[in-house]
Amino acid sequence: LAATPRAAQAQAYPARPITVVVPFAAGGPTDTVARLVAESMTKTLGQQVIVENVGGAGGTRGAGQVAKAAPDGYTLLLHHIGQATAPSLYRKLPYKVTDFETAGLITAVPMTLIAKPGFEPKSIADVVAYVKANKDKVTYGNAGVGSASHLCGMLFMSAVGTQVTTVPYQGTGPAMNDLVGGQIDLMCDQTTNTTGQIKGGKVKAYAVTTKEPVKSLPDLPTMEAGGLKGFEVTVWHGLYAPKGTPADVVAKLNAALNTALEDPKVVARFADLGTEPEPKDRRSAEFHKTFLTAEVAKWKPIIEAAGVYAD
Ligand code: MLT
Repeated sequence: LAATPRAAQAQAYPARPITVVVPFAAGGPTDTVARLVAESMTKTLGQQVIVENVGGAGGTRGAGQVAKAAPDGYTLLLHHIGQATAPSLYRKLPYKVTDFETAGLITAVPMTLIAKPGFEPKSIADVVAYVKANKDKVTYGNAGVGSASHLCGMLFMSAVGTQVTTVPYQGTGPAMNDLVGGQIDLMCDQTTNTTGQIKGGKVKAYAVTTKEPVKSLPDLPTMEAGGLKGFEVTVWHGLYAPKGTPADVVAKLNAALNTALEDPKVVARFADLGTEPEPKDRRSAEFHKTFLTAEVAKWKPIIEAAGVYAD
């Protein structure tokens, strides 16, 4: 039987380079994950998988661009927990979470609370006291409303009961430059971006945001141990295609992504950066879809209680 046009399309896919949009500036944690995965998927798929950084509006500009792209498998989105928080943070979001096909989860990255070199407070408890006493002076860097660094900052300020000045960047790559340079005081960012700076003594590190300590950063207590009860946030990442992308194409992408998560180079680099691939039983496109829906529902009341909106 002659292959149907769609099946023929899927068999031929990919016939040309694939673009993966990272909705934050180059040099940040999302970009780091994307470039590692893209390098491996290029080998598996036999076509260049090219990372394109589209920053702005806490990741929603890049996500919105992919939501409107042709559903042919040649324009993808690699995004993180912001995909689940944006619908609650942006009341006029130019796309819906259902405008995407899920193509699989990647990794759930711990976050670290860090400060500029020489920042006065010694412990996380001292940071809390300092922020309360200097709320008009302290500055906090993030990647815009909807970013993971914004989410962590929102949780931190809610826990401390104090709002400080936030300085938004196109990503925490650029934000990190200003933190290391002392232009901003505090940031909460993923170990994929902070491990090198912490081990290099370029920033002051206070805590990790995971339930358990992070093996590669053994000296850092958890936020919970530092006195911030129940403070827990990890930044999960996933791959997406525009809604309507043929199921066989999505399946091919999910398979290539799963190969990347078994790639020794990817696994070793993730470990150096304080993270690891999602466990095998969480790697299907279907699991990603169910998980994303649950995360949208999970973060909605938390964001509404914090009363933080972008628009
Ligand atoms: C975030 O805060 O969401 C990320 O750090 C942004 C980025 O990857 O630069």
